[in-house]
Amino acid sequence: MTGHPDANRSPLMVALPKGRLAHQTLEMFAAAGLPTPSGDNGRKLIMESAGGAMHYVMAKPADVPTFVEYGAADLGVCGLDTLRESQRHVYEPLLLPFGFCRLCLAAPADRPDTPLRYESQPRVATKYPNLTAEFFRARGVNAEIIALNGSVELGPLVGLAHLIVDVVETGNTLRANGLVETRTILEIQAVLIVNRAAYHLKRAAIEQVIDRLRTHLAAQPT
Ligand code: PRP
Repeated sequence: MTGHPDANRSPLMVALPKGRLAHQTLEMFAAAGLPTPSGDNGRKLIMESAGGAMHYVMAKPADVPTFVEYGAADLGVCGLDTLRESQRHVYEPLLLPFGFCRLCLAAPADRPDTPLRYESQPRVATKYPNLTAEFFRARGVNAEIIALNGSVELGPLVGLAHLIVDVVETGNTLRANGLVETRTILEIQAVLIVNRAAYHLKRAAIEQVIDRLRTHLAAQPT
């Protein structure tokens, strides 16, 4: 990757999760001296850097690992929660210093100690059915997983579930809904992911991206 991209070289495709993580990623790429799109691209789903060396694919966050595993994107940025839940096979060369939160098991505040003691099958609402099933399986608990697409905290409030597994950042959503964290399942932050074939076919360009990001991050105050 150079400041003056080679027009003969195919662009690097980067899948970003639409929303805050995409903004933070583009800010970091720009600060690291990598080509980023200029200005507002409105509702365009593929944004090109000036000169076209990098194309940014704006995907639904949960779809980023899919784009990267299939090679529709060479690189991507997503949360470790999304990556582990997706069970996609990609390289993970670099953790990124944003998107910090955690995946937690949470229970009603008046029954916080029951999660793993249910004789009968606990019902657990979550947007993370794979990680949740793995968590309970590893503990020998026969949980019934109820997959939801959002507002998971509703589960115990409306009698849909005994417990939830969800992302917690400030804890405000849990508190506001009478729930407490009882276990941390996964510490989360953003991660750079790379398609395994692209890593070999476009090695020089991809390694340059990783090196620039590493150098930039190493220069940041801790
Ligand atoms: C996420 C997550 C929690 C909330 C946690 O939800 O699923 O609900 O943020 O953040 P907090 O600990 O700072 O309160 P999101 O806003 O993505 O919406 P969703 O519940 O519809 O998925």
